[in-house]
Amino acid sequence: MVKAIRFYETGGPEVLKLEDVEVGDPGPGQARVRHTYIALNFIDTYFRTGRYALDLPSGLGSDAVGVVEAVGPGVTDIRVGDRVGYLIGPQGAYSQARVMPAAVLIPLPDGVSDRTAATLMMKGMTAQYLFRQVYPLHGGETILYHAAAGGVGLIACQWARALGVTMIGTVSTDEKAKIAKANGCTHTIVTSRENIAQRVRELTDGKGVKVVYDSVGKDTLMASLDSLQPRGRLVSNGTSSGTVVVDSQLLAQKGSIWLTRPAMVHYIHPRSHMLDMARELFDHVLAGRIKSEPRQTFALADAAQAHRALEARQTAGATVLVP
Ligand SMILES: NC(=O)c1ccc[n+]([C@@H]2O[C@H](COP(=O)([O-])OP(=O)(O)OC[C@H]3O[C@@H](n4cnc5c(N)ncnc54)[C@H](OP(=O)(O)O)[C@@H]3O)[C@@H](O)[C@H]2O)c1
Repeated sequence: MVKAIRFYETGGPEVLKLEDVEVGDPGPGQARVRHTYIALNFIDTYFRTGRYALDLPSGLGSDAVGVVEAVGPGVTDIRVGDRVGYLIGPQGAYSQARVMPAAVLIPLPDGVSDRTAATLMMKGMTAQYLFRQVYPLHGGETILYHAAAGGVGLIACQWARALGVTMIGTVSTDEKAKIAKANGCTHTIVTSRENIAQRVRELTDGKGVKVVYDSVGKDTLMASLDSLQPRGRLVSNGTSSGTVVVDSQLLAQKGSIWLTRPAMVHYIHPRSHMLDMARELFDHVLAGRIKSEPRQTFALADAAQAHRALEARQTAGATVLVP
């Protein structure tokens, strides 16, 4: 038996219960992973609240790192004792150990600690697919990036700096502005006292930006559209403040804007591509261009508290749960 978080109904953080669960042996194509760190992601709150559908009761979480304890028949490229991480697959990462499809496990290189890797799997891979696949950046661009001091945000700041991109990042407080800047964000806009689109125009000589990466959603939609150049790209990659509903006519009015709502699952297959994405991310980390450590740590049993902090915008950077 291991400890795991499960929930029986959707709702506030209080629905998360710590329970004893049976893990069992891995079947064909599977591996059992003993977690060392579990990563908290904003998407976990969407599943908990029911914004994203899930059959209940269920475990929660899709992002963790650990050591392979056992492998099932047919697993050839993952071995017992391997250090691995993952970011896709069935919900249930909030647990001390679990059985996973071996095909989603990513071997961790020497030189990247479990603690660092726990901040990278979902968040670093998201920065990879946003900046290298959804709207590829080559250096020299000026971008608007919302929630720049968040979990994905702090990695994005460093990745943008490594690429030679001028990043305008939004944050809610001066403290978060300092953190984003220390991680490479070129300019910050403090949303509690500054007008986003107006500041973007000032910072770009009135031109606006070619691309906005907007994970905040509902609250920032209009500011994002008003910050773009004609024919600019709005990458709507999250809905931390609520779902985005757009009348297509608005996209025409705001300058023939291209809108995409990307999901990781469509950018990570096949496995060889996922491993290439991870290699690019790890190369930045091993070269010191991206440095990432959890800024908040909670015990697995305190997952509800961690959710409260994330939803109340009290966190900066990555948050991990220790099993
Ligand atoms: N599409 C994908 O494949 C994909 C993959 C990974 C993550 N995401 C999305 O990327 C975003 C970032 O994820 P994360 O796990 O790294 O979270 P996070 O950025 O650490 O946390 C969310 C941040 O959003 C900002 N925010 C603005 N309005 C908010 C509101 N009403 N409620 C809560 N937060 C608000 C807050 O920063 P300030 O206080 O500075 O405003 C908060 O810290 C999420 O929207 C997530 O769903 C998408």
